Amino acid sequence: MILVTGGAGFIGANFVLDWAATTDEPVVNLDALTYAGNLESLASLQGNPRHTFVKGDITDRALLDRLLAEHRPRAIVHFAAESHVDRSIHGPGDFIRTNVNGTFTLLEAARAHWLSLTGDDKANFRFHHVSTDEVYGSLSATAPAFTETHPYEPNSPYSASKAASDHLVRAWFHTYGLPVVTTNCSNNYGPYHFPEKLIPLMIVNALAGKPLPVYGDGQQVRDWLYVKDHCSAIREVLARGALGETYNVGGWNEKPNLEIVHTVCALLDELRPDPAGSYKRLITFVTDRPGHDRRYAIDARKLERELGWTPAETFETGIRKTVQWYLDHADWVANVQSGNYRDWVSKQYGA
Ligand code: NAD
Ligand code: TYD
Repeated sequence: MILVTGGAGFIGANFVLDWAATTDEPVVNLDALTYAGNLESLASLQGNPRHTFVKGDITDRALLDRLLAEHRPRAIVHFAAESHVDRSIHGPGDFIRTNVNGTFTLLEAARAHWLSLTGDDKANFRFHHVSTDEVYGSLSATAPAFTETHPYEPNSPYSASKAASDHLVRAWFHTYGLPVVTTNCSNNYGPYHFPEKLIPLMIVNALAGKPLPVYGDGQQVRDWLYVKDHCSAIREVLARGALGETYNVGGWNEKPNLEIVHTVCALLDELRPDPAGSYKRLITFVTDRPGHDRRYAIDARKLERELGWTPAETFETGIRKTVQWYLDHADWVANVQSGNYRDWVSKQYGA
């Protein structure tokens, strides 16, 4: 079996759902259920004996040791993190606690577990660390996209904490020989995305007739990756990635934020027209984010060259699926917005 951390968050939940759909291998899913953890996203796995959910914190070494001794996973896929840049600006402490101390604690527990293994179990063990392109800092408009050897130049408390975690993972490989692989991916989008991030926020605000807040001039560029493509890349790297290596994962979809917002509005105009007029009327330019990185772009050729991975979705196909998913899952959105998702489990299943 494998142990996933943060599997009730956006990418982790998509990964666990896809894992259950594509393999018979059991998953133990460890998640602290912060505001970003939503068990409702995993409702379809209720009663599935191959999915075990454990509410707990990656900074809890005793819990990690217990879980590893009990389940003896052949791999750990580490998603758990504080992930929102704007929150990191208002309160960086949680980011240091989870992303730095949590990753350190998990690495130490993984190392003790790995040392207890023998033979093939030891040789085949993997610690897969999920990280971000934001560790590389900001690109000028004409600079080539980030490769795996681009210097680390994080600019936000979030990206600095992720950079620190990447360095710890690297050190545990070089110093202790822990069999690690790391993926650094670009901005994900798709189902189950918490509506504090750009794309889901624009969809849910538009449907509610609320302003669509665009930071600064809206010309900051991100490289968008459909979340299920990210999940397939992780499965490839976990299965066949070289130990100690990092792989950049991207969708080859560099777009300025304002273009993203226009695309979301155009799709909603088509799929759910508003009698009041195009959703574009709601676009509102607001004060820019402090230290806002201007451009991210991922060069994902190493992953293609070495493991044959390419994304299945173009931005056009992925964003259409995403907007349609939000239209089809109004209950999920309503429960997130009302905060009811936090007591969804007790409501749905009793105590
Ligand atoms: P998310 O914020 O949606 O989910 C994070 C999950 O981790 C939540 O379920 C939360 O409850 C859990 N968690 C937080 N602190 C924890 C702790 N101390 N112990 C146990 N669980 C804890 O994040 P996401 O967007 O799904 O991102 C997953 C990973 O991918 C993160 O490591 C993030 O840095 C990375 N990443 C995300 C993106 C993106 O576009 N979303 C891009 C690049 C990299
Ligand atoms: P976000 O989804 O927060 O991801 P990240 O900051 O990790 O890239 O933001 C994506 C881009 O959209 C980023 O340049 C900030 C911008 N943005 C807005 O313009 N308005 C918003 O309300 C949000 C949440 C983000």
